[in-house]
Amino acid sequence: MKFTLLTVLAAAVAVPVTAEVYLKEQFNDEAWTSRWTESKDWKPESDMGTWKHTAGEWYSDEADKGIQTSVDARFFGISAPLDKPYTSSKDKDLVIQYSVKHEQDLDCGGAYIKLLPGGKSFQPAAFGGESPYAVMFGPDICGSSNKKTHVILHSNQKDENLLINKQVMCESDSVTHLYTLVVRPDNTFEVFVDNKSVRSGNLADEFDFLEPKEIKDPDAQKPEDWVDKAKIADPEDKKPEGYDDIPQELPDPDAVKPDDWDDEDDGEWEAPMIDNPEYKGPWKPKMIENPDYKGPWVHPMVPNPDYKDDDEMFMVCKDTCTHVGFELWQVKTGTLFDDIIVTDSLEEAHAFAQETFFKKKDGEKEMYDKIQAERQPEMPDMVSGETLSY
Ligand SMILES: *[C@@H]1O[C@H](CO)[C@@H](O)[C@H](O)[C@H]1NC(C)=O
Repeated sequence: MKFTLLTVLAAAVAVPVTAEVYLKEQFNDEAWTSRWTESKDWKPESDMGTWKHTAGEWYSDEADKGIQTSVDARFFGISAPLDKPYTSSKDKDLVIQYSVKHEQDLDCGGAYIKLLPGGKSFQPAAFGGESPYAVMFGPDICGSSNKKTHVILHSNQKDENLLINKQVMCESDSVTHLYTLVVRPDNTFEVFVDNKSVRSGNLADEFDFLEPKEIKDPDAQKPEDWVDKAKIADPEDKKPEGYDDIPQELPDPDAVKPDDWDDEDDGEWEAPMIDNPEYKGPWKPKMIENPDYKGPWVHPMVPNPDYKDDDEMFMVCKDTCTHVGFELWQVKTGTLFDDIIVTDSLEEAHAFAQETFFKKKDGEKEMYDKIQAERQPEMPDMVSGETLSY
């Protein structure tokens, strides 16, 4: 009896709210192809790139693989079902986390993940850029000025996918980085890169989930006789007599006819023209304060009849989400994805990052640095070539 009671107590203390994990994918077994389906029917075969199962060129553990885009200038599509469907609810966060490593010098290409409503009719072989999605999250780079982390969320009220209206940074170097998105039932969100918060806020403020609360009164109009000119021409100011007779240029009074000027050969000598210091340009009357000025007209605002509050903005998977997928276009390929988790607990995602990303990152960086050093061993000497010539 005593034993049983203790056991029950211990269990109650040790297990607080249990985190749910909807997907955990490390790509570390050959069976990954039975979970993931390539989008073979999305585009003609010649437009589709293939995925490599590899640890890449630099890694901390060669046996720890991910999936990598290969074949340049192609589309890439692949998806997998969640282990169990995720449905948004008031007692659950949504956490999506995965790692991205651009081994190529990425000039233009997406590396975002999508959480998909999928459902029973979902056809993985046809999954692509046109397939409906609940969340699109992750880095996208095109050129040196266009680098961002996408955060796009589905609004049920508007039946639209909404882009974040703020800039969210992303990493663009060649080592692995970790991207984490949290969407919470209090209608806030947060983005982490390498476990550091890079953006957080209210869904209502940073996405256009809601129509504006007020609009310009459609019945109000600027009165015809509204005077919004602050200054007018002074009616008392008159153009002085002879003002228009002042020439713009004058013959230079200091110029002298050169000694060797020959009127017969060179024609009659004329002094070169210079600007007339008396000339003041076309006459303009003086401007004075307008005595009838009323200030700028301000359009009165009224409550927007289309405004509706939405306390379910966070419910991106209101009708359940069943799959994750990548659908990308890449010019130069070599982006490696790994360690995907979909859960309702940021702590669970932290713990997973601890076992994966944080465990591997230093070893990978060491190997990366070594490879880079071997690739360009003689750069400084080549620049100052003369020092070698003795
Ligand atoms: C990640 O962030 C969380 C919360 O800020 C922190 O508790 C955890 O220690 C961090 N993990 C690492 C490995 O830095």
